[in-house]
Amino acid sequence: MYETIEVSQEGRVALIRLNRPKQLNALNSTVAREIIAATEAIEKDHTIGAIVLTGSERAFAAGADISEMAGKTASDMIEADFFAEWERFTRCRTPKIAAVNGYALGGGCELMMMCDFAIAGEGAKFGQPEVKLGVVAGMGGTQRMTRLIGRARSMEMHLTGRTMGAAEALQAGLVARVVPDAEVVSTAMESAKLIASYARATVRTIRDTVMRAEELPLAEGVHYERGLFHRMFGTQHQIEGMTAFLEKRAPRFQEGE
Ligand code: HXC
Repeated sequence: MYETIEVSQEGRVALIRLNRPKQLNALNSTVAREIIAATEAIEKDHTIGAIVLTGSERAFAAGADISEMAGKTASDMIEADFFAEWERFTRCRTPKIAAVNGYALGGGCELMMMCDFAIAGEGAKFGQPEVKLGVVAGMGGTQRMTRLIGRARSMEMHLTGRTMGAAEALQAGLVARVVPDAEVVSTAMESAKLIASYARATVRTIRDTVMRAEELPLAEGVHYERGLFHRMFGTQHQIEGMTAFLEKRAPRFQEGE
């Protein structure tokens, strides 16, 4: 069904694997179209509660496909609104975990940062090397990296184009966890299965609220969160979650609720 990705399902979790190993999973327009189409299809499927996005052992993705971009002019890029389609990926509310082995460079690092969090292998390498290509990041790298790791570190990464290893990425807050390379996908799947076991509406609300923290001033964000918290009372998942605690049993959330 897809040319550049493989999609499979394990229980309530979808696994999307980038499959252009010879090009180190460079993100050309087919990859973009397919990842977005797969994610939007998953979004509508109430049997799926979380997504793991991964690459190969050598590369999560080594960036946007340079051979596809090299000959373009500014008017080509403006006319196509190049990379704008990725906003559809970020609008999907199903939690997305990036499982990263090898290179996550340029657009690859940006794709990882578009996910809700990342689990990286010890050998993973991150960077925004666009400066070496004479351009700025174009898929949100300057914005998301700065929010994740702060201006000093983000500025240094973007201005030098250097590569950051997994231990440094963890310490900086670029990734949530670092595990042995061989355990990256299984660890991400485990996390995704746990997330998918909770009530769908609760998970989506939590995800949306955390995402708002990057955009709203503190007082507005706290007010927004409190409003959502209030409105969750009386819902099936609030009643079941709290009743189960009081009855000292595991909650039984309805699938796809
Ligand atoms: C197209 C790429 C690619 C890319 C690797 N390849 N990255 N093709 N676009 N981003 C291809 C190589 O051309 C090569 O193809 C094959 O993948 C293997 O790569 P090698 O370079 O031979 O491997 P290695 O020596 O191990 O080096 C790995 C690497 C290097 C360090 C990751 O490939 C590299 O620096 N790649 C580019 C990284 C980068 O600059 N990314 C940012 C892109 S711009 P052949 O056919 O020769 O075997 C971006 C932001 C977009 O993402 C915003 C701008 C508008």
